[in-house]
Amino acid sequence: MAEKTISNVDFSKYFQPPSLKDARRRRRDAVQIINDFSIPEDMETIGHGKNYLIETYGCQMNEHDTEVMAGILEKMGYQETEEPKNADVILINTCAIRENAENKVFGHIGTLKTLKLENPGLILGVCGCMAQEEVVVNKILAKHPQVDLIFGTHNIHRLPQLLKEALFSKEMVVEVWSKEGDIVENLPQSRRGHFQAWVNIMYGCDKFCTYCIVPYTRGKERSRHPQEIIDEVRELARKGYKEITLLGQNVNAYGKDLPNMENYGLGNLMDEMRKIGIPRVRFTTSHPKDFDDHLIEVLGKGGNLCEHIHLPVQSGSSEILKIMGRGYTRERYLDLFHKIKNTVPNASFTTDIIVGFPNETEEQFEETMSLVRECQFDGGFTFIYSPRAGTPAARMKDNVPMEAKKERLQRLNKLMDELSAKSNAKYQDKMVEVLVEGESRKNPDVLSGHTRTNKVVNFRGPKSLIGQLVTVKITDAKKWSLDGEWQKEAEVLNR
Ligand code: SAH
Ligand code: SF4
Ligand code: F3S
Repeated sequence: MAEKTISNVDFSKYFQPPSLKDARRRRRDAVQIINDFSIPEDMETIGHGKNYLIETYGCQMNEHDTEVMAGILEKMGYQETEEPKNADVILINTCAIRENAENKVFGHIGTLKTLKLENPGLILGVCGCMAQEEVVVNKILAKHPQVDLIFGTHNIHRLPQLLKEALFSKEMVVEVWSKEGDIVENLPQSRRGHFQAWVNIMYGCDKFCTYCIVPYTRGKERSRHPQEIIDEVRELARKGYKEITLLGQNVNAYGKDLPNMENYGLGNLMDEMRKIGIPRVRFTTSHPKDFDDHLIEVLGKGGNLCEHIHLPVQSGSSEILKIMGRGYTRERYLDLFHKIKNTVPNASFTTDIIVGFPNETEEQFEETMSLVRECQFDGGFTFIYSPRAGTPAARMKDNVPMEAKKERLQRLNKLMDELSAKSNAKYQDKMVEVLVEGESRKNPDVLSGHTRTNKVVNFRGPKSLIGQLVTVKITDAKKWSLDGEWQKEAEVLNR
């Protein structure tokens, strides 16, 4: 393997390292909508007879970016493989949200060193949110010369050019744009699902919660034009997709940046979704601050809009919420929660919570516990606070020992488990609509899918049901999932 060190990198051309400081800036210039993606002629067949593998960490946005990168690689003739040994290109699409997510990726990059030694022609690329961080890029440069290519979240559309450079140069190619990206509309996508699909409605985040790295790694909020989204969803409906999930880091801010569309928001977009013949529409992630009455009213109309709201609260203490920069108090969150619940009575609610934020007191943590009890969440993701270099919270002194943080997480998880069991128990003997997603992970003889409220349902039935909407009677409500019987006689709800 040719050693690629910082000394023989051509800084002038393909060495563009990231800067968190630049990424913090929010420029006022209008977002450019670009429609000129194409593969350079000399790269159109470069992948014929070759294989690619993309490993994805992190959230749905990363999963969807992987579908776009797969689409680009397939346009160049590459085929997907699940076997790293057979791959000619391996891309690691990374997540920077917490330290343990990053450690996992570094561990993995280390293990790929042997693969590179066995196959020196292999191109090893690192992309995604970690690539937007200076510390990460510097560490790869210093310690992982087996990496050939590093690119960020804003220049995915340049993958053909960057791959070409990596293939033909002996230097590590680094291109990470810290200036927030534009919107490239005509990128190919190779969707992983055949009846469920993700649809980006906006990119980036301007909320700058004090603990969070996302606004730095994903740039400023940029909304796609509603017509582009409507066209994409109509096309998915035409192809027979049954469920779409509208994606963004803060979908409730959708539309705020659209020129000449002052009052257009997520409520308007969801109203458009109701008119499209697709059986299920979901959206994630909601930020409580921007969740407006119009959206609540539209969700209340039901139809294909699923009754599941993921509403991250992060903390039940108004003091902590203030230091987190979340822009709402405990009381405002609870008001919003009850307003949605009253308008969409069958809705299930899930949340995200961070415990052990710097200097969180036992009393403040108890406020989180009492909020969780009041909301009786159906489920949620709970995390121990992880300092992210470059964010304001990482500079705060912290007097909470790790042991106390772990103990709080345990207490919270126990409560969440109890509440999940309690909310599942309400489904006992009920008939539910399930979108059958495939075989259950634990038992291939069992089928698995989700209700509209996002509960996992397992039941026995023929494989031909995969991809269909069916009726299932719940016979055993467990803590984290529901077991049921397929109602063969009931009409297959193939709307
Ligand atoms: N945009 C979404 C969240 C995206 S990140 C929102 O605002 O709700 C997903 C979750 O990771 C967050 O909701 C938060 O609970 C958690 N998270 C983010 N940064 C974190 C950090 N530094 N330490 C621990 N958890 C964090
Ligand atoms: Fe991070 Fe806050 Fe933006 Fe969510 S809203 S991505 S937590 S900064
Ligand atoms: Fe992770 Fe980036 Fe998503 S940091 S959670 S992959 S936006």
